Amino acid sequence: SGGSEGEARDGLTQTPTTLPMREGWFLPLFRLQGCWLTPQRVESVKLVQAQFNPRPDDVLLVTYPKCGTTWLKALAFTVANRSRHPVAGGHHPLLSHNPHDLVPFLELPDRTLYLVAELEALPSPRLLCTHVPRALLPPGTLPLGCRRLVYLCRDPKDVLVSTWHHAQNARLIEFDKAFELFCEGVSVFGPIWEHCLGYWDLSVREPNNVLFLKYDEMMAQPAKHVRMLAEFLGVPFTVEEESGGVVEEVVRLCSFQNLRDLPVNSDGVVAGRIGAMPTKNSMFFRKGKVGDWENYLTEEMARKLDCIIEEKLRGSGLTF
Ligand code: A3P
Repeated sequence: SGGSEGEARDGLTQTPTTLPMREGWFLPLFRLQGCWLTPQRVESVKLVQAQFNPRPDDVLLVTYPKCGTTWLKALAFTVANRSRHPVAGGHHPLLSHNPHDLVPFLELPDRTLYLVAELEALPSPRLLCTHVPRALLPPGTLPLGCRRLVYLCRDPKDVLVSTWHHAQNARLIEFDKAFELFCEGVSVFGPIWEHCLGYWDLSVREPNNVLFLKYDEMMAQPAKHVRMLAEFLGVPFTVEEESGGVVEEVVRLCSFQNLRDLPVNSDGVVAGRIGAMPTKNSMFFRKGKVGDWENYLTEEMARKLDCIIEEKLRGSGLTF
């Protein structure tokens, strides 16, 4: 089992009603092993803990929600499967599927709609995604060994703004209230700093098996990061692909504008997620900008959140 890290797994047998609880977001959040989760997520995380069987060749995409999960899924799927699904040519799966339908989450808000057995049925090597913090990775996942893990993080100020907009789909929440909770670490899968630090430490511990990415850097140099991703996944671009412009094709196919404007993403609904929260595909494509926080946070708020993050990350080597 995953006891190798010595992480206590207390709390996994408790029902939400016995866990610490906070209100204010679209649903009450319960604290499971230091991580704030909706009641459905608590159940779903427990189910994954109990039933998921990691394989040595699994590739795990890990993000804190609203850090660019959709983009990372699109990029990793495209890069990993490009021999089977040529990037150009008009038949790519991304043209007819939302990225979330191509790379499954380990955990989902409504566990009854998703069976762990479906993950078992996937052929190897599996490309999987999760939002859980390191402490809640299913038993047997750590140490990574041969498994590869890609972690994507983002400036917490932009994450807050994106999270707040996302939550608005379910319930109106004052931005000031969201800010307050976020600063306390109370947000789904939060605190965000613990999430980032857990995987940052893992990337220091197992550098060959963790690719640690930042949204802002990827936005600034997408082609460079697509190459890094391909190398990391063991499928570097060939000389022919490079000269044929395949890297740029991947960047273009997975770009915010391109994906957002596809009918499947402007009109579709993510399959199997209509339960706790109806999920229109368009919800995953809002603005796709670096620094949109400037339109929502006062200077004082920005300074406060920056200070909290700086203090939490101090000495780790991780910065935003
Ligand atoms: P904004 O709300 O700031 O626009 P997640 O996929 O983890 O839910 O994150 C969603 C955020 O990523 C949203 O940020 C969304 O617009 C942005 N996003 C979605 N697809 C993207 C893409 N292809 N490229 C860049 N950003 C993207």
